[in-house]
Amino acid sequence: MSEWRQLASALADELVSAGKLRSPEWIAAVRDTPRHLFVPHYLEPDGCGGWRRVDTVTSGIASVYENVGRYTLVGPDPHGWGDGPLSSSSTPGLMTRMLESLDIRDGHRVLEIGTGTGYNAALLCHRLGADLVVSVDVEPDLITAARTRLATLGFTPTLVARDGADDLADHGPFDRIIATCSVPDIPRAWINQLAADGLLVVDLQPSTAAGNLVLLRRTEDGAAGRFLPGWATFMPLRRAGEVPRSPTALDVTAPRRKSGIGYREPWTEPVWWFLASLVLPSGVIFGRFGEGLFLDAADGSRAEIVPHSDGADVAEYGPTRLWSSIEKLHQEWVGHGRPGWERLGVTVTRRTQRVWLDDDMAGPSWSLGPIAQDEISKP
Ligand SMILES: C[S@@+](CC[C@H](N)C(=O)[O-])C[C@H]1O[C@@H](n2cnc3c(N)ncnc32)[C@H](O)[C@@H]1O
Repeated sequence: MSEWRQLASALADELVSAGKLRSPEWIAAVRDTPRHLFVPHYLEPDGCGGWRRVDTVTSGIASVYENVGRYTLVGPDPHGWGDGPLSSSSTPGLMTRMLESLDIRDGHRVLEIGTGTGYNAALLCHRLGADLVVSVDVEPDLITAARTRLATLGFTPTLVARDGADDLADHGPFDRIIATCSVPDIPRAWINQLAADGLLVVDLQPSTAAGNLVLLRRTEDGAAGRFLPGWATFMPLRRAGEVPRSPTALDVTAPRRKSGIGYREPWTEPVWWFLASLVLPSGVIFGRFGEGLFLDAADGSRAEIVPHSDGADVAEYGPTRLWSSIEKLHQEWVGHGRPGWERLGVTVTRRTQRVWLDDDMAGPSWSLGPIAQDEISKP
């Protein structure tokens, strides 16, 4: 057996033992797909704020058969702090978990948003045949490279270079949609392209690191479903013309007060941070400075939180009191018994998108990006 086949088989075994891969069809896809072909090189942080290129051919192919995501393209990051990841080959166990959650059957037509290296598209082609696979990426060069790699394996799926949030109805409808980049709300084009009873899996992430995978089923007037257990995070879907934003400086005259929830970095508690992101203005960025942390929103609001021996002090500035919203949401989350992902769901209708707790109709709910009336077509 060739080296890559041994490595791919070992990877499949590892994913099976970890409970991230179960079905014979996807086990075969992982065993038969040479990941090194899709990741000829990757980029690692060099520890000095830059990136180091690792050439898979010269350094050995074993590292791309680990259950690890590998960055393959970097560029200006949305916080304006130098280069950040723009594309990757996602963690294989995350891919198989998403693919299996979609309950893909023979004959299903599948759309992938975020072609990247083409590795996941190769798994789909292995499972379904290339004729049933459509994959889109906003980076034309990635599409060109993926097309060549897939052709080496004899796969010629439909690969499209454009914004995956746009209408791809010419290629649909799709029985299944898998997005390997995150979205702040569900693009209506995805719902309209989803066949009756079709399934869609995506990382719903209103702010950075504030989200998780949600599995939605097409309904009469939209889609509905629940979050998957566990936690995953993807790089965001980039829109054309998006300009990286740098944080603003705090108004030094902003009054200081004691934080009602002490010092905490909300993004280290994913469910609460996700719920908080639903009540914060869009485009919140965050980071550390000195001993403290800051949050900064596109509407010019900013909060700084500085720890001390007796908790933390907060200064807030701008149209939205960011930390006050976070404190309120934290209280609500504690009041509801600190719910985990399994208690949260999402419903998209003609008029609204909302996240709900426990029960679509009776539970408390929070609004996501609104959808104008009648924008959702019948399946
Ligand atoms: C995590 S990578 C995808 C990994 C890929 N599925 C694989 O198997 O290698 C995310 C990809 O989403 C792409 N992306 C970002 N914004 C997009 C958009 N608006 N439309 C389509 N693709 C987008 C990025 O260029 C990147 O290649």
